[in-house]
Amino acid sequence: MRYCFAMSERKTIIDMQQLMLRYPTGKVALSGVNLTISQGQFVYLTGESGAGKSSLLRMFYGGLRPSSGQLQVQKTDMREAGEAAVRAVRRRTGIVFQDHRLLFSRTVFENIALPLRVQGWSNERLIPRVRKVLEFVRLDDRLWSYPEALSGGEQQRIAIARAMIATPPVVLADEPTGNLDEETARHVLDLLMGLNELGTTVIMATHDLHLLNSHPGRVVQLHAGALVGDSHAAAR
Ligand SMILES: Nc1ncnc2c1ncn2[C@@H]1O[C@H](COP(=O)(O)OP(=O)(O)OP(=O)(O)O)[C@@H](O)[C@H]1O
Ligand SMILES: [Mg+2]
Repeated sequence: MRYCFAMSERKTIIDMQQLMLRYPTGKVALSGVNLTISQGQFVYLTGESGAGKSSLLRMFYGGLRPSSGQLQVQKTDMREAGEAAVRAVRRRTGIVFQDHRLLFSRTVFENIALPLRVQGWSNERLIPRVRKVLEFVRLDDRLWSYPEALSGGEQQRIAIARAMIATPPVVLADEPTGNLDEETARHVLDLLMGLNELGTTVIMATHDLHLLNSHPGRVVQLHAGALVGDSHAAAR
């Protein structure tokens, strides 16, 4: 797979100032967050349950809009952008969830191909492309399997393959290792690190900070909706 991001440029990929998010219930999930993430970084988003990690990740692909403050994602103003511009950001973003969200009625091939199929890719182009990302996650023998025939860790690797199929500059992962044993979690993290080494910005919400020993990265810490720590110095 070809990636063409110039690592040396360190372009800003996400930038926010005084970002605030209030849910319709009145709950303020994020209050006055200032943060800049550059292309090519590997960022851990940490903090207690309810700190605002998932809410922040959702704003990075337009699943939620800021209530006030500034948020630029891949040069798009996420407060002002219309639906088409938000969809364009989403197409340039890979997403991995804790519960992988694979379609159990579809084969591995169909699950991974989906993001490109909606862009009109033919089977002829899709098959070699899907094979390539399956090789990356080392599951190329499972192209025609159904997800239920795979283990939890294998399903999560398929979800990573699906997230990377359209070579997005950014991959967001929300507790991708939350349901996995430690060895499988390390393996999934190896894949995300490998993707990062190819130039992809990876932002991952996690409680598993012991993974940092083997997989270093920038650690951004939220507490009750506010930014309380940022180990920028350790940024990759
Ligand atoms: N759809 C929603 N409507 C109203 N409040 C919400 C909604 N989703 C989340 N919240 C609240 O916003 C706050 C932040 O939630 P969020 O899911 O972002 O936390 P988190 O850091 O991802 O937590 P966890 O580690 O448990 O996943 C919490 O107080 C939560 O109850
Ligand atoms: Mg969460």
